[in-house]
Amino acid sequence: MIPLFKPSYDEQELEALKQPFASGWIGLGPKTKEFEEKFAQFIGIKHAVGVNSGTAALHLAMKVMDVAGGEVITTPITFVSTNHAILYNDAIPVFADVQADTLNIDADKIEPLITSKTNAIVVVHYGGYACDMDKIMAIAAKYNLKVIEDCAHSCGGSYKGRRTGSIGDIACFSFHAVKNLACGEGGMITVNDAALDKRLRALRWLGITKDTWNRAKGEAYSWFYNVDEVGYKAHLNDIPAALGLVQLAKLDKLNNRRRDIVGMYNKAFADLDWLIRPVEKDYTKSAFHNYVVKIKKRDKFIQYMADKGISTGVHYYPNHLYSVYKPYYRKLPIAESIWQKIVTLPLFTDLTLSEINYIIESVVNFSG
Ligand SMILES: Cc1ncc(COP(=O)(O)O)c(C=O)c1O
Repeated sequence: MIPLFKPSYDEQELEALKQPFASGWIGLGPKTKEFEEKFAQFIGIKHAVGVNSGTAALHLAMKVMDVAGGEVITTPITFVSTNHAILYNDAIPVFADVQADTLNIDADKIEPLITSKTNAIVVVHYGGYACDMDKIMAIAAKYNLKVIEDCAHSCGGSYKGRRTGSIGDIACFSFHAVKNLACGEGGMITVNDAALDKRLRALRWLGITKDTWNRAKGEAYSWFYNVDEVGYKAHLNDIPAALGLVQLAKLDKLNNRRRDIVGMYNKAFADLDWLIRPVEKDYTKSAFHNYVVKIKKRDKFIQYMADKGISTGVHYYPNHLYSVYKPYYRKLPIAESIWQKIVTLPLFTDLTLSEINYIIESVVNFSG
């Protein structure tokens, strides 16, 4: 079976992993700090705080954005983590419909949903293609709302020349095994505000104001710490951070390879009148996390591809249709019709040319 996603590792990652093991420090330590600093530099932001998943990043980011008790405008076409984080924070998800072409939250659908209780908008740069951020930031400024970027798909992507993760008030990344920058598990929160950075560092470590690495420096009273508020066990450690440093150094190259593969797919599928290709708007340079096409006979196509030994997926079932989100249901005509047509094809940097050609040939020969 050709998988849908696969991380791209070589000897460099294996070599890098030796360092934390050789040093004997595999917890939150120097590799995490170095990864945070290099990641912040890469994104073009002042602070990056390493956490153990994208879900934890969203949980903590929304906490410091003070969404509790209010309403957060969000997208239904995302992994459930985005919306679970709203519920973790005792806030109400208010679902806005998506753009039919990008599957990103439709900026024009946001304003009518704003009430006196709205305090934030969460945007997901779906598939790596940035949302219409100028429009969204203007609405947020008009109503004094916070903007949280979910960059789980868009690591390395950009909007009008700025990396995603540097545009909203705060942003969240995932380094889960299938992501463009893959550490097995891991995540990052990026923010410009120094006070929020400080609070996030404590929150990811049970609320403790000094991490174990700083306590190990041997100064007088270095063992002492205070706890200002109840935090979580959500910090990154030096094993995924060592992997992340290598992946970060390669990321633009890896994403360019994804761009090449998407170019081959787009060219080969251009004349198929039964298949709609993904759209890269002129304001975004996608990170190309996934390749999602729209096909009327989607379910038949999935079975056909499986018979050919090619994995496919559906990203995502609209979250507002899950039973847990029933209390927050509102009719979203585009999301509710489009999910029945979407199908994800394999996209990862180590796909070989013969695999790409085989996938293309199989798609083109689908008779419907
Ligand atoms: C859009 C989106 N948000 C959040 C997450 C959560 O990230 P993690 O799996 O690292 O918790 C994911 C992926 O898993 C995702 O695709």
